[in-house]
Amino acid sequence: MKLLVTGGAGFIGSAVVRHIIQHTNHHVLNVDKLTYAGNLESLSSIEQSERYHFSQTDICDRAALDQLFKDFQPDAVMHLAAESHVDRSISGPATFIETNIIGTYQLLEATRQYWNMLSEEKKQAFRFHHISTDEVYGDLEGTDDLFLETTPYAPSSPYSASKASSDHLVRAWNRTYGLPVVVTNCSNNYGPYHFPEKLIPLIIQNALAGKALPVYGNGHQIRDWLFVEDHARALYKVVTEARIGETYNIGGHNEQKNIDVVKAICELLEELAPNKPKGVQNYQDLITYVKDRPGHDLRYAIDASKIKQDLGWVPQESFETGLRKTVEWYLNNQGWVEHIQSGEYQNWIQQQYQTE
Ligand code: NAD
Ligand code: TYD
Repeated sequence: MKLLVTGGAGFIGSAVVRHIIQHTNHHVLNVDKLTYAGNLESLSSIEQSERYHFSQTDICDRAALDQLFKDFQPDAVMHLAAESHVDRSISGPATFIETNIIGTYQLLEATRQYWNMLSEEKKQAFRFHHISTDEVYGDLEGTDDLFLETTPYAPSSPYSASKASSDHLVRAWNRTYGLPVVVTNCSNNYGPYHFPEKLIPLIIQNALAGKALPVYGNGHQIRDWLFVEDHARALYKVVTEARIGETYNIGGHNEQKNIDVVKAICELLEELAPNKPKGVQNYQDLITYVKDRPGHDLRYAIDASKIKQDLGWVPQESFETGLRKTVEWYLNNQGWVEHIQSGEYQNWIQQQYQTE
């Protein structure tokens, strides 16, 4: 197969590309604009493969997309390119509208034009796999409910609203034009190569530097954490096995309060990085409660029984094993972190946490 993967230099996209190159014989074309979140170093383990190809392209650039489809002739598209950080969407929503909505529209149109030219057999086999988030469902405050594939959409942030819009576009392109789409909505991912402005890597990095560990509000918000390599396996199963038009929720069965996640990281660091920065007695002493995120969703939790039943996928990592692997990876890969802490990233950190 030839798979066109958008956003393959990002956190989840790079795990998907590594998975496909390492565990299959397929070819991958990674289409990525390389925003602040894109990092080709995350692909250094597979970049030498002759089955791996890269194009630095903006998914909003229709002419460039048309050329890529013409040259590469993919059998499937896995669409992960997006602006993905909720806090950035609050301080600057424009790029979220541009990439997540307009970019998805341009990609759908480029795909549709290409797909229309395929033979009947290839048309049937083709898949457009849209990778989305559980945040489109809003939150589950005050209930024990889980998100189902049928849960109504109620996004809270500019990020989740832009992702919800893109999901609607993808399903409309299936219903109206017959484009063979599949959609997945996933919970919070964590693991190696996670950009260090998201909660788990931020806490690891700040603790190692002896900086404050910022917890929004009271830290009682709940997320359902999924190890990124489990997600990559699920996505590969969906793109190769799912029936046209299906939606799958993907989750880790790992509901955790933010404050408990932060404390668990501190405990692991006590064991794995006992030589603390000067003046730090216990990593947990660095925990600092800061101003809450506006519109902060209180609880996300996924019912992932459909993908288990239909495709036989279950996560392999528990939160304990996955978090340990993640902390160990950051301790062993400080060079990767240092290289991506660009000027732009430093500006973000200063702007986001300046008042605390
Ligand atoms: P990420 O921010 O780490 O990576 C996004 C990638 O997309 C980057 O490599 C970036 O350079 C690229 N990109 C951004 N704008 C682009 C554009 N206009 N054209 C081409 N490339 C562009 O994101 P991630 O965490 O890897 O998430 C990947 C996908 O999974 C996103 O669609 C996100 O909504 C979804 N998702 C993420 C999570 C999570 O916990 N991270 C959970 C559920 C769903
Ligand atoms: P994040 O990693 O930004 O993912 P998302 O907002 O998509 O769930 O945040 C995870 C949770 O951690 C979320 O409830 C916000 C919270 N959080 C903090 O408490 N402090 C922080 O510095 C960050 C970045 C997030």
